[in-house]
Amino acid sequence: MIRRSIVVGCGCYLPQRVVTNEELARSIDTSDEWVRKRTGIVERRIADENEKTSDLAINAAKEAIKTAGLSVNDIDLIVLATATPDETFPATATRVQEGLGMTKGAAFDVQAVCTGFIYALNIADNFIRVGQAETVMVIGAETFSRILDWDDRTTSVLFGDGAGAIIIQGLEQSSDKNLRGILSNHLHSDGRHHDFLYVDGGPSSTKTVGHLRMEGREVFRHAIKNMASVLEEALEANNLSPEDIDWLVPHQANKRIIDGTAQKLKLAPEKVIVTVDRHANTSAASIPLALGTALNDGLIKEQDIVVLEAMGGGFTWGASLIRW
Ligand code: ACO
Repeated sequence: MIRRSIVVGCGCYLPQRVVTNEELARSIDTSDEWVRKRTGIVERRIADENEKTSDLAINAAKEAIKTAGLSVNDIDLIVLATATPDETFPATATRVQEGLGMTKGAAFDVQAVCTGFIYALNIADNFIRVGQAETVMVIGAETFSRILDWDDRTTSVLFGDGAGAIIIQGLEQSSDKNLRGILSNHLHSDGRHHDFLYVDGGPSSTKTVGHLRMEGREVFRHAIKNMASVLEEALEANNLSPEDIDWLVPHQANKRIIDGTAQKLKLAPEKVIVTVDRHANTSAASIPLALGTALNDGLIKEQDIVVLEAMGGGFTWGASLIRW
């Protein structure tokens, strides 16, 4: 028997407030046309002043528990990916644990910026594979609006707030070729690229929260290259080819990056889930939000090959290949 993690629930939460490109163009020197053309973004959600990353995460987590038909007591572990925690410490995951009324198990945060969800999922999957956990909640939750420099038009138009959560559970299966679940994870990082995408603050450097700084063109160049190569790596590890992919759920940073990556692998556009138009870049939340949208639309069926992939600050990048 082989043990693999299968996805049993998914939940999404977006703040109420919709901010369109037109609205941003009233306070920043930009236009709806520029943002749409260069990024594919039409609108994003922005959290209320009092709404924290944990609040978004708790709402997404509650929905995931409901869709899985489980109770909070079934969850052994929460792994939460965020670059915008409520506080420097404790982990936002422990705020979520409290908010859900969960008093057993463990909860911790993972920091890999936009690749955070893939890192968190890989960690959660390992806990399940070795039998240290049975049921794990994996969350991506962000309030990037808090770390944007709203006077910088080159970055402030690109991001949004939101949260997505999935629940994975161990399933023992006989070792035939149709093994379900997370089949492989692939993580990478290269710290030499720090200066292309970072936040110019932090408790140990400036003692401030800081703002996001980015060399957009450099990020763009590396994003397509790294995401296409990790996608190829995931396919190769499972003896699959691009035609075997039923659904690609990429990190939602920019429509041109998504299209460029899909084109490199000659993937049909209708197999690629796109939500960047509605959500903008929600960093670690973008993959579970896109996955939740695809599931709500009834697109993903049992046995489908689903590939999740992302790239973000660090640089970090990675992919997870799942047979649903
Ligand atoms: N509105 C209007 N004009 C703008 C804006 C804006 N919001 N931002 C920049 N411009 C101007 C620039 O000032 C520049 O003007 P100039 O020619 O007079 O100097 C012109 O537009 C072109 O700027 P570029 O930076 O060359 O534009 P580019 O086509 O590279 O698009 C963008 C910029 C959208 C940021 C692109 O580089 C990109 O998407 N990069 C990836 C960034 C990203 O997705 N980061 C997310 C985090 S990492 C990740 O998630 C993968």
